[in-house]
Amino acid sequence: MSERSYDLVLYGATGFTGRQAAHYLATHRDVQGLRWAIAGRDTNRLEQLRQNLGEQAGPVGILVADSQDPEALSQLAASTHVVISTAGPFAKHGEQLVQACLQAGTDYADITGETPWVRSLIDRFHEQAAAKGVRLVPFCGFDSIPSDLGALLVVDYIRQEYGQGTRRVKGYFNAFGGFNGGTLASLFDMIDAGQMDILNDPLLLNPPEARSAAEATRNPDQAFPELDMDFKVWTSPFFMAPVNTRVVRRSHALASSYQQPYGPDFRYSECMYFDEWVPLQSTAVSAATGLLHTVAQLPGFTQWMRPLAPSPG
Ligand SMILES: NC(=O)c1ccc[n+]([C@@H]2O[C@H](COP(=O)([O-])OP(=O)(O)OC[C@H]3O[C@@H](n4cnc5c(N)ncnc54)[C@H](OP(=O)(O)O)[C@@H]3O)[C@@H](O)[C@H]2O)c1
Repeated sequence: MSERSYDLVLYGATGFTGRQAAHYLATHRDVQGLRWAIAGRDTNRLEQLRQNLGEQAGPVGILVADSQDPEALSQLAASTHVVISTAGPFAKHGEQLVQACLQAGTDYADITGETPWVRSLIDRFHEQAAAKGVRLVPFCGFDSIPSDLGALLVVDYIRQEYGQGTRRVKGYFNAFGGFNGGTLASLFDMIDAGQMDILNDPLLLNPPEARSAAEATRNPDQAFPELDMDFKVWTSPFFMAPVNTRVVRRSHALASSYQQPYGPDFRYSECMYFDEWVPLQSTAVSAATGLLHTVAQLPGFTQWMRPLAPSPG
């Protein structure tokens, strides 16, 4: 293990999410003697971040590599056992880093929510990574860890407690606050790349053998307000469901191939829920989601929106 300088490198450490990840690592270094480094494109910003982390962080290395510099990325990947990346949009800043990690035999995890990009990674690199024993693990942020591990834990619990498979898991979300600039930049890039239709494919991340019409029909995306009789709440489409549901379905498909299916004709869905008698918020959110979906496909949408949206960082 010790021929590499680091156990873990955090790439994109100076961004909005990267800074939070760096502070988290600085204060939660549960692994005794963890050797870690922060990485990004700007030496000064990295130095400043290291100072802000303070002594609690222990010795922290600094690695400088632009996302478009394959040589620097190769050196970075070869210097560590694991890279975790928060540098997005990932189709732009993750592509060469993933290839460098694959080449160096370095495990890689990120917080992308860009399903079309991950589909292309699977098509190009899954076999090679599996053969080399390199783990490439996208979607390790809020999308889609709670959904993916949440569904798995429910399925495991039901199997242990009741000795049965699970037919259906539903995820309910509630949210407040706003959108951050980095996430919107990634969304705008996907719209500009004409990927809105691909995002709508409910089985986008599934392997070919798990892409049947019946599977797609079983797993539609919610489009309208609905009264959920299990919890007696009104629900609406959840804006991250087009990411999270695809991830959970892929995990189920892979479990079916390599271990055992979650359950017969397993279904997974996500919605937002509202504790209201009259479906006001659920209708408003459903309408806004549908409207956004329509206008996002109009020519020039991102040109208008980019200056109005919060900036990345
Ligand atoms: N899965 C989730 O739950 C989740 C949550 C939040 C965000 N995200 C995703 O994570 C990504 C980052 O979001 P964020 O809000 O943290 O964005 P951000 O603040 O804009 O951070 C982007 C990072 O990318 C770096 N970067 C930009 N251009 C680069 C280049 N040429 N070479 C190397 N690094 C470069 C930036 O470096 P500088 O600091 O030098 O500018 C910064 O560190 C987005 O794709 C977003 O969609 C996912």
